[in-house]
Amino acid sequence: MYAGAKALFFALSRSTMLKRLASRYGMASPDSFARRFIAGERVEEAIEAARALQSRGLRLTLDYLGESVRTRSEADAAVQEYVHLIEVIVASGIERNISLKLTQLGVDIDRATCVENLRRILEPAQRHEFFVRLDMENSAYTDVTLDVFETLWNQGYRNIGAALQSYLYRTEADARRMNALGARVRLVKGAYKEPASVAYQDKADVDAAYVRLMRLLLDEGHYPAIATHDEAILEQTRAYAAERGIPTDRYEFQMLYGIRRDLQASLVARGYRMRVYVPFGRQWFPYFMRRLGERPANIGFVIRGILRER
Ligand code: FDA
Repeated sequence: MYAGAKALFFALSRSTMLKRLASRYGMASPDSFARRFIAGERVEEAIEAARALQSRGLRLTLDYLGESVRTRSEADAAVQEYVHLIEVIVASGIERNISLKLTQLGVDIDRATCVENLRRILEPAQRHEFFVRLDMENSAYTDVTLDVFETLWNQGYRNIGAALQSYLYRTEADARRMNALGARVRLVKGAYKEPASVAYQDKADVDAAYVRLMRLLLDEGHYPAIATHDEAILEQTRAYAAERGIPTDRYEFQMLYGIRRDLQASLVARGYRMRVYVPFGRQWFPYFMRRLGERPANIGFVIRGILRER
């Protein structure tokens, strides 16, 4: 069921009919269904959502949605959007933290273009003391993402980190590589449909790997981000950190915008660092479909939303 739902929603995410329907109804009004997971299509809406989160003691990272870019001009436009986003965030006074994907910056065109595009973002980001996180995409991009990361790290950029996925067999080695560099890891379970040749297929195995990696990162990592909504794992993280005497400012929790807001608030109330990933932009459909694939019950509110708006 776990892998099955992901596969189904992955297939649906390629449906142009569904995309058209979703684009028409998903963000049309303030209570449209996609707004549960996406802050808005415009940067101003993302800033407003970020301000509201900050006022409740939450930290944040802003993600300008986009991926699978095939042309230089699209990749260039994404770079310009990010540079603009940096300026808008500085002017707004909210926390300086952004997330991005390498397929948005042209990694499918060629690696050199992607490195240069990322550098164009890291330059102003570094000047304004931003932290920049590279999201991790499907397993075809794991190597190149870590290589691009390391290239820029070796050029002296230290305001960067990457995400690693517990469902991949290779991740322990990658986590050790990041730890040896002194780089920050965001640990996630993984949101893509992956074959058994590279990834665990059973949820129990993915969860067990997550716990092993969480411990490795808390013991040997550098300000790791434990990014999950899984209550049992959150509990195990808190217990492990307490047992090892690791203070709450040596790591942080992260969750996605609109998911388990109750848990987000209760962690803040108990004195933990909690960062919310705030996605925005017009290219929200693939991100949205991954959120449905994680929890097929979400399809209910989508259908209700479409029926209400028709
Ligand atoms: P799990 O799927 O076991 O869910 C645990 C509980 O959380 C569920 O029982 C439910 O209550 C709630 N929940 C989870 N997903 C939900 C949803 N969509 N709707 C409603 N409730 C939901 N992935 C990736 O491949 N690359 C990346 O770079 C990132 N980046 C990233 C950043 C941050 C801050 C987070 C929190 C997550 C990611 N992810 C990601 C996504 C991640 O890989 C994973 O798919 C989701 O976090 C869901 O898995 P959980 O760890 O929450 O556990």
